[in-house]
Amino acid sequence: MNEVLIAPSILSANFGSLANDVKLIDEAGADWIHLDVMDGHFVPNLTFGPPIIKSIRNISKKPFDAHLMVTNPDDLLEEYVAAGVDMITVHKEVTPHLDRTLTRIRDLGCKAGVSINPGTSLSGLEFLLEKLDLILVMSVNPGFGGQSFINSSIDKITAVKELISSKPIKIQVDGGVNNNIAPQVIKAGANVLVAGSAIFSGSDFKSYQQNIASLRCKI
Ligand code: DX5
Ligand code: ZN
Repeated sequence: MNEVLIAPSILSANFGSLANDVKLIDEAGADWIHLDVMDGHFVPNLTFGPPIIKSIRNISKKPFDAHLMVTNPDDLLEEYVAAGVDMITVHKEVTPHLDRTLTRIRDLGCKAGVSINPGTSLSGLEFLLEKLDLILVMSVNPGFGGQSFINSSIDKITAVKELISSKPIKIQVDGGVNNNIAPQVIKAGANVLVAGSAIFSGSDFKSYQQNIASLRCKI
């Protein structure tokens, strides 16, 4: 059985006490820490960048998984690496030289991922499989937490699973994942679940622990 990982998105954390929430979510059982970087340009919302990531890096030893929802990811790759991220995922829609970008991410010592929006095809990824550690299937239109899962994402995940065949590439799903959705996306082939609102609801350690545990029960 394929191991399934849980990556809480700190987009839904309490930014007023972010460091504490990262500590709590780590201790509550997160496998990875998912970092939603938004630039107010590729997506309407704004979040944080390398300095804030650096400031929370030492709080958790879990892998830091940076999801760059930015128009120009190439411009700051070194800064994200210096801030201590372990994985960098860029969006296919805004990365014209994807082969080059993925190569650079790996050359900088990080794992490399590509993310595809609900309306984006997988076309071209078949040529990049050797350079990919992760494919992120967006199951909402990126920009905000707390949106509803888009059902066509299940077929997209199935197509990604077929595309990668037995290659060691993680299939991550992000957006609207909760206890009901988890079994469906796992059945289709997902093995990294990002969840924001479903995990950070309750806003205290006990809730985080229960939320992660009940999601894990569905795996
Ligand atoms: C959306 C982000 C997601 C989001 C997930 O743009 O990439 O990581 O925060 O949040 P939920 O689980 O609330 O949909
Ligand atoms: Zn994300």
